[in-house]
Amino acid sequence: MAKVLVSDSIDQAGIDILSQVAQVDIKVGLPLEELISIIPEYDALMIRSGTKVTKEVIEAGKNLKIIGRAGVGVDNVDIPAATRQGIIVVNSPEGNTIAAAEHALAMMLSLSRHIPDANQSVKAKEWNRKKFIGAEVYKKTLGVVGLGKIGAHVASVGKALGMKLLAYDPFISEERAGQLGCRLVDLDYLFREADYITLHVPKTPETTHLIGEESIAKMKPTTRIVNCARGGVVDEAAVAKAIQEGRLGGAALDVFEEEPLGDSELRALDNVVLTPHLGASTAEAQVNVAVDVAEQIRDVILGLPARSAVNIPGLNANVMEKLRPYLQLAETLGNMVGQLAGGRIEKLNVTLQGDLAEKEAKPLVVAALKGLLSPALRERVNYVNAEIEAKERGIRIIETRDESVRDYTGAIHLEATGADGEHSVNGALLSDGDIRITSINGFPINVPPTGYMLFTLHRDVPGIIGKIGSLLGSFNVNIASMQVGRKIVRGDAVMVLSLDDPLPEGVLSEITKVTGIRDAYTVKL
Ligand code: NAD
Ligand code: MLT
Repeated sequence: MAKVLVSDSIDQAGIDILSQVAQVDIKVGLPLEELISIIPEYDALMIRSGTKVTKEVIEAGKNLKIIGRAGVGVDNVDIPAATRQGIIVVNSPEGNTIAAAEHALAMMLSLSRHIPDANQSVKAKEWNRKKFIGAEVYKKTLGVVGLGKIGAHVASVGKALGMKLLAYDPFISEERAGQLGCRLVDLDYLFREADYITLHVPKTPETTHLIGEESIAKMKPTTRIVNCARGGVVDEAAVAKAIQEGRLGGAALDVFEEEPLGDSELRALDNVVLTPHLGASTAEAQVNVAVDVAEQIRDVILGLPARSAVNIPGLNANVMEKLRPYLQLAETLGNMVGQLAGGRIEKLNVTLQGDLAEKEAKPLVVAALKGLLSPALRERVNYVNAEIEAKERGIRIIETRDESVRDYTGAIHLEATGADGEHSVNGALLSDGDIRITSINGFPINVPPTGYMLFTLHRDVPGIIGKIGSLLGSFNVNIASMQVGRKIVRGDAVMVLSLDDPLPEGVLSEITKVTGIRDAYTVKL
């Protein structure tokens, strides 16, 4: 039975799903060394933000197939190391969107109306109404940095509160911003104009200390900052200093450069609201993320694809839904063409035909590469590392599209150049989802892929088929089906045989000695 390690607190709903298919061990708060020492036993690791999945953890995880992050941010996982090792990393991109957005809005209003301090004061038996005069957000300008899922929800609620909306996000169109009631502006403009700045970006080299000395200098002295995104997007020391010196209105922070928050000047300041990374901490969000990620771990254990893998090129849930039937086709064709080309592949040309020409190509290219490399790398190659492995082997990958080929709704043509020269295969899906090989080296055929296949290139002359049949019979090899493809009568042709058994040693070279046979290849799928 598969084994899953859950190393952060995860809602029981997720544990229940995992328990259907695996032995689940819950060990929260493990020291790094202990995690490294036990991780080799596990097929899957499920975490939240507490566990740091370092390169060392990943390298020790010899049996790990999947790391599931019950949340959005995967900055606590060494993704390049996981990718290199072929480990799928999945997250829950939407499970806590509303929770985080509502927390950011709550933080903005709390800061504006001094609610946390006023609450403390009343609880300390004071009644000080003068001290806690706040500011309204109505008609103020809200600057949203990062207009993704959370930023978009914050913007729509901000609009409902009567705020003017500015947004900065270099990856979002003006049209999308407009739909959300936001004016897309540059960062400097947003810093100068906003009364409230709310951050909803991932932590990247570009967003690290996005709010710091330099940006604060551009802001109004009354501007209030809200960070419910990631620690480090805000330079906490710079913010504390600016608030102390009256150059910044205040800050509401849920995430910190170091968590738990260590000694920090922020604790002592008025106009600062601090929460301990509570953005996703609602009952609803915890169930959502746990179920979302547990389902993906369960699927991968059952050999199914994950829907929100962050390290499979181009594969998101949407794309996956449309391409799922074609992934197996691409992989099968890749496997065949790689064997026909004799390994040591230098170049793979992937052409998507018909309706597929309009679809996202990347996952199909990755699937073809996985198939191409699987005879050599076996289970070490998967959708996660196929592209890296191919590049490391110096395989040149060319993607082309050809909408004009309309024999099937969607078809894939692969051409590989390897130790045995250039070979090509074409394949399509039938309406019932079955795969058909529709041509080999340009010769039209129509055969389903089977476990053991024999291809010959020969002259289309009488007697050849009989000779091959007798030869195989003499070696006790049973033929399940046979088909010939030719372009012209008595010209060159291909013969495709599905065999019940692998060819015994030496039979292939006997076949090539038959008069009229120019070449012969076996493929094992
Ligand atoms: P998302 O991917 O939907 O949105 C992020 C947006 O940031 C994208 O639109 C992207 O284009 C934009 N972006 C990237 N680089 C940028 C840059 N340099 N400048 C401006 N915009 C940039 O992600 P999301 O689900 O909205 O999450 C946003 C952040 O919130 C993430 O960092 C996530 O980890 C964090 N988060 C925190 C909590 C919490 O508990 N506090 C909960 C959930 C998510
Ligand atoms: C996230 O990225 O989803 C958040 O940090 C929430 C969390 O896991 O606590």
